[in-house]
Amino acid sequence: MARLRVRQLLILMILLIAASLFYINQSPTQLRFPQILVKPSPWTIRRMNHPISTYQQLPRGNPRRLPKIQYAFEVETAEQKSTREFRQRAIEDAFRHTWHGYRNHAWLEDELRPLSGESKTTFGNWSATLVDSLDSLWIMGLQDEFDEAVAAVANIDFETSTDVFLNVFETTIRYLGGLLSAYDLSSNTVLLTKAVQLGNVLYTAFDTSNHMPTYMLFWKSVLDGNEQEVPDRAAIANIGSMSLEFTRLSQLTGDMKYYDAIQRVSDLFYDQQDNSIVPGLWPIWVNTAEEDFASEVEFSFGGMADSAYEYVPKMHLLLGGRKSEYSKMYSKFIEAAKKHLFYRPMTRDGQDVLISGFLTAKDGPLTLVPSVQHLGCFVGGMVAIGAKTIGPFEDLEIAAKLADGCFWGYESMTSGIMPETFAAAPCTSESACPWNETAWHEAVLKQLGNSHDLSMEELIEQHNLAPGFIQIIDGRYLLRPEALESIFVLYRATGDKQWQEKAWKIWVAIEKATKTDLAFAQLEDVTFAEPKQVDSMESFWTAETLKYLYLIFSEPDLISLDEWVFNTEAHPLRRP
Ligand SMILES: *[C@@H]1O[C@H](CO)[C@@H](O)[C@H](O)[C@H]1NC(C)=O
Ligand SMILES: *[C@@H]1O[C@H](CO)[C@@H](O)[C@H](O)[C@H]1NC(C)=O
Repeated sequence: MARLRVRQLLILMILLIAASLFYINQSPTQLRFPQILVKPSPWTIRRMNHPISTYQQLPRGNPRRLPKIQYAFEVETAEQKSTREFRQRAIEDAFRHTWHGYRNHAWLEDELRPLSGESKTTFGNWSATLVDSLDSLWIMGLQDEFDEAVAAVANIDFETSTDVFLNVFETTIRYLGGLLSAYDLSSNTVLLTKAVQLGNVLYTAFDTSNHMPTYMLFWKSVLDGNEQEVPDRAAIANIGSMSLEFTRLSQLTGDMKYYDAIQRVSDLFYDQQDNSIVPGLWPIWVNTAEEDFASEVEFSFGGMADSAYEYVPKMHLLLGGRKSEYSKMYSKFIEAAKKHLFYRPMTRDGQDVLISGFLTAKDGPLTLVPSVQHLGCFVGGMVAIGAKTIGPFEDLEIAAKLADGCFWGYESMTSGIMPETFAAAPCTSESACPWNETAWHEAVLKQLGNSHDLSMEELIEQHNLAPGFIQIIDGRYLLRPEALESIFVLYRATGDKQWQEKAWKIWVAIEKATKTDLAFAQLEDVTFAEPKQVDSMESFWTAETLKYLYLIFSEPDLISLDEWVFNTEAHPLRRP
């Protein structure tokens, strides 16, 4: 009897060892694919017009140990903790206030109109605000609201839409990013199933003659098997900003078609990087049909280009550093940007800050247009992440100056809120830049002209110009997150509490001006002390702005940047 048991034990042990050897031999990603069931549909049986014989595979092997992004935070004092928690609760209250308004007045609609309580269809009519807010609900610990929202997501049909065409970029960053992030946080397979359904729809945008994606997906026409044209003029943000989401989808499902699709686009960016008149930078507009990135001559990190750049260092992180193409592309474009795109504005109080401008050679030689877009305020955060993980480390100082450039845009306004776009006079020298009233006035005249023969004082007053500003090009505030996004990254990367103070200052101004009975509203013109509210609230308010604020005032290990990488809609995806 005893002998038998020993034998049984031995056999059992051998089996166990064999089993564990078998498992160790499997690549870890192969083991972890969750079981999901995507029901057959016209999208799953659709045949590609331009089939692909072999998919590029996700890079294999162990991820490289990348340098840490997050500062090694010390334990906070009781006083610091109580201030921080007070502020964090204020942000959570603002989120709850918004969520209530949406739930009671615009449930399942894309957006709530924050003044009238009406709703608005913007992207696919698939409950944009709800899907975009899932991960914020989870991160803020609003479990009941999260469960209710996931139950609603289960009923959304991403395979059909009331829209004639889908905006591929917005659908990817808001919906697909939102679903993947909420899945990565909660492991609820409903979310991954929906992500795969939507991913299969979006994937057809790449079914073109050269596999470069279309920007507008006429989904019915695609289902009918019609040919899609490759745009001969595409904004780089629209073709270069699906990479994180599609890569994560392949990582989570083991289906390489998504990664293959975006890697073809990245490879083209890589091949074309030295071809423009500013080698290292891709122009805002490119010809994807001809695969020609060299002809156009406008460059910026602002709208239409922004996330194409942002995703390059972030792909380095999501792939665990296993594909050198991305770090090489980052190093090249950041050197070009430091040389040509970033500039120091002249400030009255001597702030030593940087701004990411706009380059054009449309009307002659390459010229810096000293304009600033709120959309471009993410750059400080991007450079901080790049400085810490790719280098050079000294760029962390440039990152801080860029984040401070946007903060200067906020603090210079009477309302305390930065406008959507403005122009600011550049310093003549980056190293020393004393305030020079005459030089500022000359720059104002050059920028605005003076057809009514106003005195300089009248001109400045008529245009509501703060010192250093030479034009308010677009005075609105759309509830955008980018300045706070950079402050968040800078805080996590440096541990410097001045960033929390700056974020709080911005928040106090935003809350005062934008809060409504139902939620929060966009502003018409932030150059007024009490700007007029506009009946609109895009989903990035709850997806991004409030999330970044919340995380600035949370414990620093909540969604650590060493474990997560944010897509351009602030959806954190799990790093390897
Ligand atoms: C959006 O979908 C809802 C049903 O969920 C429908 O009642 C509404 O008419 C749709 N909106 C548009 C603009 O098609
Ligand atoms: C201020 O700017 C004006 C106009 O550009 C220039 O003539 C003057 O020398 C500057 N003053 C100083 C102190 O640099």
